[in-house]
Amino acid sequence: MDEGSAPVTLEDVEAAHERIADVVHRTPLETSRTFAEMSDAASVGLKLENCQRTGSFKIRGAYNAMSQLSAGERERGVIASSAGNHAQGVALAGGLLGIETTIVVPKITPAAKIEATRGYGADVVVEGDIYERSYEYALERADETGETFVHPFDDEAIVAGQGTVGLELLEQYPDLDTVLVAIGGGGLISGIGTALKAHDPEIRVVGVQPEGALHAKPSLEAGEIRELADVDTVAEGIADTRMLETTFAVAREVVDDVVGVSDREIAAAVALLAERAKTVVEAAGAAPLAALLSDDSGLEVEGERVAVVLSGGNVNLTQHAELTRTGLGELGRYVEARLALAGWPTAVGDVVETVAEEGAELDVLERARRQSVDHPNRVPVTVGLEGSGPEHLAGVLEAVDELEGVSVLESQVD
Ligand SMILES: Cc1ncc(COP(=O)(O)O)c(C=O)c1O
Repeated sequence: MDEGSAPVTLEDVEAAHERIADVVHRTPLETSRTFAEMSDAASVGLKLENCQRTGSFKIRGAYNAMSQLSAGERERGVIASSAGNHAQGVALAGGLLGIETTIVVPKITPAAKIEATRGYGADVVVEGDIYERSYEYALERADETGETFVHPFDDEAIVAGQGTVGLELLEQYPDLDTVLVAIGGGGLISGIGTALKAHDPEIRVVGVQPEGALHAKPSLEAGEIRELADVDTVAEGIADTRMLETTFAVAREVVDDVVGVSDREIAAAVALLAERAKTVVEAAGAAPLAALLSDDSGLEVEGERVAVVLSGGNVNLTQHAELTRTGLGELGRYVEARLALAGWPTAVGDVVETVAEEGAELDVLERARRQSVDHPNRVPVTVGLEGSGPEHLAGVLEAVDELEGVSVLESQVD
């Protein structure tokens, strides 16, 4: 495609930047020595879009698109379908621009998300068992009422708005070699890629997807949109089945590569971001860091300056805690074990003491359900232990196993 026919250009992104400048945060860019060391990069810059208004980058595109509606369109209102970050972006943009917004969500949407969206001033309509049905309903209703449907990614103004993250990166983290961006439908990476490639075509733009929703890689390799029949990932923000016309047309020009990461790697990235960068990031937003730190993604960044876009932080705290625990397990720093105790409760005290002496944290100790194979004169318990690594935890379990009246029945530590 020659430059003149690109659906989104640098000029579009620059115009978007002007439109949204007074409304969105210019989010911080923090460098991380820890993640640079872990990945052999010369430097790693974390772009904290989880600290953006509404908790994700989505307000950028939504505001850019909605601020360009005509007076008549504004009058008739905006409709969107989303159970996630796009909903909040559209709702806030509507509030700021004085446009009435309606968000259609599927029945499975958690009440907390509905409340959050209402909190930003949108009217929420629950329609459809799955997202696709809510999407169809929103389109049908837009046809009837004259409301403007704002697509979560397949829209030039949305792509241009998301691209403003790229312009900020160029200012905040100059001379970057590689940028890592999560792909759902491809709006964010298309916009960022447009901005970066116009500045320097040598900057490598790498998309990241969960292995359970890896559609952009085969699409870009085949030169045509490939759609997945099913997706399966903990990163619900990027659990899309396909790109669409606009994002595919831009992405094929500006994306150099796409890599896949496992859900467990994503969980480890969420945990490390909380621990090392002191920041709360949702699974979708942590996927690029997972790719950076993965041994299996095939990504090589040795000696490079790498920007990692942390695109969102909308995760409830119980889910964050679960992700963190799984992530620590993936890092070999958390283990669950099943023990058999001969003397209850004396042995419990011995276990607690030994774990503390060995320098580990006892996260959980509870009576387990007795299984038919269990010794009838022993009490089965499960423990959850946090330690500094697999060797440490193996040593702690060995010490526990050596206690009188205690035996370790099962654990996942190698
Ligand atoms: C946190 C987060 N990151 C990344 C994305 C992917 O954006 P896109 O669909 O534009 O590729 C989304 C989309 O909803 C998201 O919510």
